[in-house]
Amino acid sequence: MEADIQQIVEEARAAIGQADERSLMTVAAGFIGRKAKLTEILKSLGGLPIEERKHIGELANQAKLAIEEMVREREGALGMQQQRQLMQRDTTLPGIAPVVGHLSPVTLITRELTGALTELGFAVAEGPEVELEAYNFDLLNIPADHPARDQWDTFWVRKGKDSKTSTLLRTHTSPVQIRYMLEHKPPIRIISPGRTFRYEAEDAKHSSVFSQIEGLMVDKGISVAHMKAVINHFVKKVLGPEVKARFRPSFFPFTEPSFEVDVWFGDKWLELMGCGMVHPQVLRNVDIDPEQYSGFAFGAGIERLAMLKYDIDDIRLFLSGDPRFVEQF
Ligand code: DAH
Repeated sequence: MEADIQQIVEEARAAIGQADERSLMTVAAGFIGRKAKLTEILKSLGGLPIEERKHIGELANQAKLAIEEMVREREGALGMQQQRQLMQRDTTLPGIAPVVGHLSPVTLITRELTGALTELGFAVAEGPEVELEAYNFDLLNIPADHPARDQWDTFWVRKGKDSKTSTLLRTHTSPVQIRYMLEHKPPIRIISPGRTFRYEAEDAKHSSVFSQIEGLMVDKGISVAHMKAVINHFVKKVLGPEVKARFRPSFFPFTEPSFEVDVWFGDKWLELMGCGMVHPQVLRNVDIDPEQYSGFAFGAGIERLAMLKYDIDDIRLFLSGDPRFVEQF
């Protein structure tokens, strides 16, 4: 048995000396673990005559201590001490609560709007932020010399030879209407939330980067009544059941008739979004027959909705990255 112990120590020295960070614990267990040979020897001591038991017991214990020391040395050599200390930390101590982040109010409102509209059967469709001039303007019935383009001062990305090759940062989410209708034929029911960009002098009410949500429904026999029902539904859902909406005549090149939606908030009417019946020319531009189909569209500024709902007075806060702002939501 003495020779056995001697041999185990020698084998351990060789194996531990070669072990790496990953294998060290397994190698060590092979010598001093619960099922290891040395442990077997220690367990079998009871069957030995008392003198031998003392002698072998002492040798086996020394061997065990020696192997444990080898493991520690090897750990040191491999730089594992720190890791080991970590593994030995007291897991019963109270922890440090991690800082939990917050969803931006823009995300919150987008989710509420999406929820209120998907429950009516609208699907979510997305479009790119870098858009073709043709989709952002021309096919929406806003030709190059149209005065309405003044409303959408544009960040140009690349000037191509015509509007089908020129790109810009989309000034509204309305081009998603075009993209979707070029690919899909009625019945159509989509909403499209996303970022939009305008060359803008920034102040409390204007930001160059903001978000919109677009809606589009096209089918046989769609009328202003359908539009009002859908818009009333989500206004109440997002701003509260007591909030009233009114539809005021307005103008957009891609809708006819066009409306501005105001909501009665507290003590006054506040302008919320634009909407209208999809202009027959827009339908023709995407190969949908306006004699057969009609539809409505709407577009709302998400920050504006958030500002109403949460009483935020400066649109620049949304992109400020200031935790004192986001942490309130
Ligand atoms: N695109 C318009 C804007 O950015 C908003 C808008 C108005 C969208 C009427 C629509 C609509 O779909 O029908 O000001």
